[in-house]
This record gives sequence, C-alpha cells and structure tokens, in this order.
Amino acid sequence: MPPPVAATIAEARAAVAAARQAGRRVGFVPTMGALHAGHASLIRASRAECDFTVVSIFVNPTQFGPSEDLSRYPRTFDADRELCAALGTDLIFAPSADQMYPPDSRTVVEVTKLQDVLCGQSRPGHFRGVATVVLKLFNIVQPDAAYFGQKDAQQALIIRRMVIDLNVPVDVRVRPTVREPDGLAMSSRNRYLDPAQRHHATALYRAVRRVEEMVAAGERSAPALEAAMGETIAAAPGARLDYARVLDAESLDPLATLDRPALAALAVYFGTTRLIDNTILRP
Ligand code: PAJ
Repeated sequence: MPPPVAATIAEARAAVAAARQAGRRVGFVPTMGALHAGHASLIRASRAECDFTVVSIFVNPTQFGPSEDLSRYPRTFDADRELCAALGTDLIFAPSADQMYPPDSRTVVEVTKLQDVLCGQSRPGHFRGVATVVLKLFNIVQPDAAYFGQKDAQQALIIRRMVIDLNVPVDVRVRPTVREPDGLAMSSRNRYLDPAQRHHATALYRAVRRVEEMVAAGERSAPALEAAMGETIAAAPGARLDYARVLDAESLDPLATLDRPALAALAVYFGTTRLIDNTILRP
C-alpha cells in the first residue's frame, strides 16, 4: 500500500500527532524527490531506528540561485511514491511552494561562516534557503530524529550547527555516501550527464580516493592534497573544477597541515551540471 500523502501542513501535523500519540518515535527524511539509492539508505536508517518514518518531497525554490536548475530539476513523484512504499515509509509530506512560503513570509535562517565557504561561494544564498526550509520542515514534522547524507557534507554540518544554536530538539543523523558501482556518488543530477560526461564523472571519486591514499601513505600538507584533487579533475575530459579544498572537518576553517580531521571536498562542472563529492581525512 502506498503511504498517504499530506499536501498541507495541517494534514502533516495531524498525521504525525496521531503517531506520536500512539507512542511512536518519529524519523524524518527531507528530500527534493527524484529519489535514488542514496535517499533509500536514509529511509532505511529511519525505519531501523524509528517507528514512524516521514519523507518530505519538496523542491525548495529558495535554495536555487536565479541561474540554477529549479525549473528543470527532475520531478518523478509517482516513482518516488512507489519507492517510499517499498521501503515502508509511513507518510509522505509533499507541500506546494505556496504552502511553504506564503507571499508575506520574511524570516530566514543563516548559519554564518559555515554557509559562506565551499559550495556557498559558488552558490550564494543556497545554504540560507536550505537552513530555512529544514527548520520549517522540522517545525512542521517535529521528528525525534532526522536523516541526512554525508554526500552533502557542508549541508549536514550546517544543519547540525543550526540545531545546536537554535536548540531544536531533533537528533541529526548523518549516513555515508551511497555510490554507483564505479564510485560516482548517487545524485538526482547524474541524470543530466550525457554518456561521455557520465563516464568521466568518476574523476570526482578518483580524486577522493587519491587523497585518502596519500594520507594513508603519510601526506599531511593540505595544499598538496588540494593540488592532487585538482590534477585528477584536470585530467578528466569535459570537467571544469569549481573547487577542491581540504578544510577543518568541523569549523571548515582553512588548515595547512592535517593535525586533526579534515574534510576534503570538491565540486566539478560537466557542462552545466555541477557534481560534488567529499571524504573525511583522519591523520
Ligand atoms: P536532496 O538532494 O534530495 O537530498 C536529500 C538527502 O539525501 C540529503 O540529506 C542528501 O545528503 C542525501 N543524499 C543525496 N545523495 C546521497 C547519496 N549518494 N548518498 C547518501 N545520501 C545522499 O539535500 C537536499 O535534497 C535538500 O537540500 C534538502 C535537505 C531536502 C532541503 O531542501
């Protein structure tokens, strides 16, 4: 049986309230739809740890820049609903943009500094949109736990920080990146790649593996690791590097030497499609 779909905030609140009344622990997986195995792993984690799993499907306009892919972002609601059903999702929350953003809405959430580096530099305003919509979704669903992917490492850090800073009573759980058999991180945007781009897109994973191996072999210089990622991307036909950085894994401050856990993260354009990947380096 496909899970019920709440299209309004009131319906979602009522369904979750009934589950909570029945003493069930509520898990929440926020998504923009076009669901794949990465999303599925989050839904499975929620099912394993909670008694009532809510998946939201909302292509959030405020996190897209004016020249980004909002209008062509993939929308596959029927397939998403089937996947949610197969995974045992209890409720889908699929609001309209008008539900989420009445015309007079004026309040935003900014996680300063963390929002400005890495993807924040090439996508100004992106993380303001993400933090704002995620806090709104948390306030609507009021989950006990919420599930995010390490694939979007900066997003996960920002949500963790927001929840601490604003005293939001949600347990933020971050799950490993799910990959295609050849290593490419699963992403709703992979479907934009033509066959040649898809072939060369494994360069991101190769860059990540390369720095992991360098660190295992004793390399501790952040600039050397950044250069190695850049080289791997430069060797991939059709790839254009946006950034390749090695930063403090918690603060995202620059770091010269790996004397503590670091986030190695990169973003790469293939044509107009922007892909990201990352790994945590532990010296
Ligand atoms: P979306 O890109 O749909 O991703 C939803 C969740 O799935 C995020 O937590 C993301 O990190 C996770 N995810 C995506 N690809 C993954 C992969 N290959 N392995 C593991 N997890 C993966 O991220 C968003 O939507 C939005 O910004 C959102 C948080 C819903 C706010 O609008």
